[in-house]
Amino acid sequence: MKTVLVTGASGLIGRHLCRLLETKGYSIHVLGRSMKKDISYKQFVWDIGSGTVDLNVFKGVNAIIHLAGANISEGRWTKTRQQEIRDSRVKSIDLLYNSVKKVGIQLEAFISSSAIGYYGAITSDTVFTESDSPAGDFIGGVCLEWELAADALEKHGVRTVKLRTGVVLTAKGGPLAKMVQPIQLRFGSALGKGSQFMPWIHVDDLCQMYVQSLEDPKMSGPYNAVAPEHVTNRQVTESIGAVLKRKIWLPNVPSFLLKLIFGEMAVIFLQGSRVSSSRIKKTGFQFQYEELDGALKNLLPFST
Ligand SMILES: NC(=O)c1ccc[n+]([C@@H]2O[C@H](COP(=O)([O-])OP(=O)(O)OC[C@H]3O[C@@H](n4cnc5c(N)ncnc54)[C@H](OP(=O)(O)O)[C@@H]3O)[C@@H](O)[C@H]2O)c1
Repeated sequence: MKTVLVTGASGLIGRHLCRLLETKGYSIHVLGRSMKKDISYKQFVWDIGSGTVDLNVFKGVNAIIHLAGANISEGRWTKTRQQEIRDSRVKSIDLLYNSVKKVGIQLEAFISSSAIGYYGAITSDTVFTESDSPAGDFIGGVCLEWELAADALEKHGVRTVKLRTGVVLTAKGGPLAKMVQPIQLRFGSALGKGSQFMPWIHVDDLCQMYVQSLEDPKMSGPYNAVAPEHVTNRQVTESIGAVLKRKIWLPNVPSFLLKLIFGEMAVIFLQGSRVSSSRIKKTGFQFQYEELDGALKNLLPFST
């Protein structure tokens, strides 16, 4: 049985992924900031700020999946918060890398989350592919540093995969729950111009992508983890309304209001370009949910 170390396992993606890994027969070591009562896998604690980690977590580990990171859509992007968003992703990889060298284990794979924010908070005609350059904005910079930190493991001889993830749709919690709530209350409307694209992925497809990244020795480097269908914010809003049988009748939420409420962070709602899923499809990956409508019908309650 192979053992996988998962960081950030207590989060939205981590909980789904650990369940899938368990059904696939993996043994799981969870590395987090504290012990969690509702996690049944072997747990170990680290402190990224002070650079300490319980080295027992690496015993028998074959691969690492790195999901830890301060949530980018919680709280305003103050300088302190921006530092936390960066350090929780980058310093954490440095700590994993140094620890792996210290304990002298040979990993088969290091799979790290990254984000489509790599390409920048812009709305354009471009369909971004993995060979495009990182953006110069805050999230683009974080994603670049995040991926460069992961590349240190690649240079150490570990096969490294980086999944540039779009908005992850889940049945409970996460971004979809935030979009659904106002629509259920009949106050839903598109954000800003509504023409910004929202690359998305169903959580089941994302978790399968993590498993394939673990198991396919030919996979290496960045892959966009997004569904093939490109949709705008207005189309997403209307699709949720249609699935929930709620009419979208209000005008769009004006950009200035979102900027007033969320500050600089509003760009993640107000901007977005298309992102290509071609590279991951070329690996033979089969999406279960290629179109938003099918994903929403699967995830939203009372939708059938
Ligand atoms: N969800 C999405 O739509 C989406 C889209 C693109 C990319 N991603 C990326 O995918 C990864 C996982 O996403 P998620 O949605 O599962 O995130 P999440 O629900 O916010 O969970 C992330 C986990 O990271 C750990 N964490 C939180 N703050 C931290 C901090 N300051 N320092 C160190 N660890 C911290 C926590 O685990 P412990 O408490 O156990 O330490 C937390 O459960 C993240 O890196 C995220 O940026 C997510």
